[in-house]
Amino acid sequence: MPMAAVIHEKGAPDVFCWEEVEVGAPGRGEVRVRNEAVGVNYVDTYHRRGMPHPWPVPALPLVLGFEGAGVVTDIGEDVEGLSSGDRIAYAMPPHGAYSQERIYPAEKVVRVPDGIGARDVAALMLKGLTAQYLLRRTYRVEPGDVILVHAAAGGMGQILCQWGKHLGAIVIGTVSTSEKAEQARAAGCDHAVVHGEGDFVATVRDVTGGEGCAVVYESIGRDTFRRSMDCLRPLGMMASYGHASGPSDPVDVIELGARGSLFLTRPAIMHYMARREDLVSGSGELFEVVQSGAVRAAVNHVYPLREAAEAHRMIEARRTTGATVLLPFE
Ligand SMILES: NC(=O)c1ccc[n+]([C@@H]2O[C@H](COP(=O)([O-])OP(=O)(O)OC[C@H]3O[C@@H](n4cnc5c(N)ncnc54)[C@H](OP(=O)(O)O)[C@@H]3O)[C@@H](O)[C@H]2O)c1
Repeated sequence: MPMAAVIHEKGAPDVFCWEEVEVGAPGRGEVRVRNEAVGVNYVDTYHRRGMPHPWPVPALPLVLGFEGAGVVTDIGEDVEGLSSGDRIAYAMPPHGAYSQERIYPAEKVVRVPDGIGARDVAALMLKGLTAQYLLRRTYRVEPGDVILVHAAAGGMGQILCQWGKHLGAIVIGTVSTSEKAEQARAAGCDHAVVHGEGDFVATVRDVTGGEGCAVVYESIGRDTFRRSMDCLRPLGMMASYGHASGPSDPVDVIELGARGSLFLTRPAIMHYMARREDLVSGSGELFEVVQSGAVRAAVNHVYPLREAAEAHRMIEARRTTGATVLLPFE
């Protein structure tokens, strides 16, 4: 039987158990997938801990994980356009990626173009599709826009910096160390602000001549949320797409008006990519920027899937840069 990293209770990273799981045959509209590489995402830690999140966590025991790249090994009824042996990737619920094999809905699968390896896809699929909708749909970045990206050396951060730069934006990023600042700059961040050394609100004001930035890609939550709002120009967009430091305090709607008719949204990939056409066009744009070299996967941390606990410890301790990938058969 296939092996998986299963949780039987919510809590610290040591709740993961490496054990056999029953996978079975795919049902109607489903495929069976042999995972070659699995992406670690910060959201996995929210779900492991039981932190609030827009996507509800199913009952325990549970195999976590939304993102994987692998090969189709079996096809259920009414599945069109996919065959056994196809190289595919996925980046959305249902949970279940932290497993050697799994069942998954065929309509949420995309084929992987030749020339992009499984590790890179597992590093790029969920984060890259998120960057696609954040930069192209939540707020459509135009050349010359000043954008603020938190955790700019992280998995999401490096993709947002590279892609934002490719779209012609001036990118301001925040990071926690000078080593991370170097990585953020290498990814295209024009102004990397190290927490504790610089003030990102002041940097935004300086760079924009006091006007404020067009959009904040706010992924930290409690520790930065209010000051992120201070960075926005009138009619600016606050895309609060994560909360690595914990959920932020509630916001008074009147305040959004008083601050300059601001927009505030809490976007999530499963809503933006719910329609097949959006998944196809979003992944098409993602693979295009990857194949052109504008966006590169930064697979900086690789662990055997059986060591998922260690991967979670590292990302929660802010000791990772770029993406973390788990290998199910090592
Ligand atoms: N809504 C969506 O559709 C969606 C999809 C994907 C990801 N996300 C969100 O995007 C964010 C980044 O995800 P990721 O997987 O790429 O992770 P990541 O950015 O590689 O790791 C999280 C980073 O957050 C920063 N951070 C700041 N305060 C922190 C704290 N108290 N604890 C831990 N980290 C802290 C750290 O960077 P520094 O040390 O440099 O500050 C850390 O490296 C997460 O908030 C995630 O929930 C949302």
